[in-house]
Amino acid sequence: MERLDKVLSNLGYGSRKEIKNMVKKGIVKVDGKVVKDSGFSIDPEKCEIYVGEEKVAYRKFIYLMMNKPDGVVSATFDNYDETVVGLLEAEHAVFEPFPVGRLDKDTVGLLLLTNDGDLNHRLISPKWHVEKLYFARINKAVDESDIAAFESGVVLDDGYKCLPAKLQILNSKEEGSEVLVTLQEGKFHQVKRMFQSVGKEVVYLRRVAFGPLKLDETLEEGTYRELTEAELKLLKKEAGLEDQ
Ligand code: URA
Repeated sequence: MERLDKVLSNLGYGSRKEIKNMVKKGIVKVDGKVVKDSGFSIDPEKCEIYVGEEKVAYRKFIYLMMNKPDGVVSATFDNYDETVVGLLEAEHAVFEPFPVGRLDKDTVGLLLLTNDGDLNHRLISPKWHVEKLYFARINKAVDESDIAAFESGVVLDDGYKCLPAKLQILNSKEEGSEVLVTLQEGKFHQVKRMFQSVGKEVVYLRRVAFGPLKLDETLEEGTYRELTEAELKLLKKEAGLEDQ
C-alpha cells in the first residue's frame, strides 16, 4: 500500500503540496469515490484513480534508451562529473532509474536505464550472456590475427581470459581502423583492454546494440526515449523474463 500523494507525485502530477491542494479541491477519485486526504492509502496496482476527467495510468517501472554522450558518467551520482541520470527530465527522474551496466565516461551510444532491478540484474549477469555490440576506431591496422585472438579469448592485463568475442573489420589501414566487436560480457574497460592486449588502442568507442536492441539512430547524443512495448518484450525475453 502507498500514499496517494506519493503515487501521484511519482507519476508527474506535481509536488506533494500541489497534490494535497488538488485532493482537497475534491478532483481526485479513487475507485469512484472522491478522496480528500492526500495521505490516503491505496494499492496503485489495483485501484482506479482519476484526476479530474483523466484516468491515471499507473506504472511502477520505467525503461529508457539513451544515446550516451561523451564526458558523462554512467552513474546516479558523482562528485565531479555530470551523470547520465542528471540528463533525465524530472518526469522520468522521479522513477529513480539507474544505468544497466556501465559505459566509460568517453564511450558514447546505447545505454539502458531502468528502475526494474530484476531485469537490470539479469541483463548484466554473466549467466545470461547478453551480447553487446560496439563500433570502435583503433589507432592501427587490425588483421586476421586479432580476429583469431578475440575468437579464442584474449587474456587481459589482470590475467582474466575473456569469453570468445567476435571481431569484424570494417576497414583497416596502418594509420587506423574501424571495427565491430561483439561481447558476451562486460568487464571494466573491456573493449579497450582487449585491444591493449593485442598491442592496439581504442580511440573512439560507441555501443550500437545491447542484446536485441539497436541504438535508435534518431536519438541525438545526450537524448533518450522510453522503450517501446515491443522492445521491452524482446529485452525481457533475452533475460528469461518473458512471461512477466
Ligand atoms: N568496453 C570499454 O572499454 N568501455 C566501455 O565503455 C564499454 C566496453
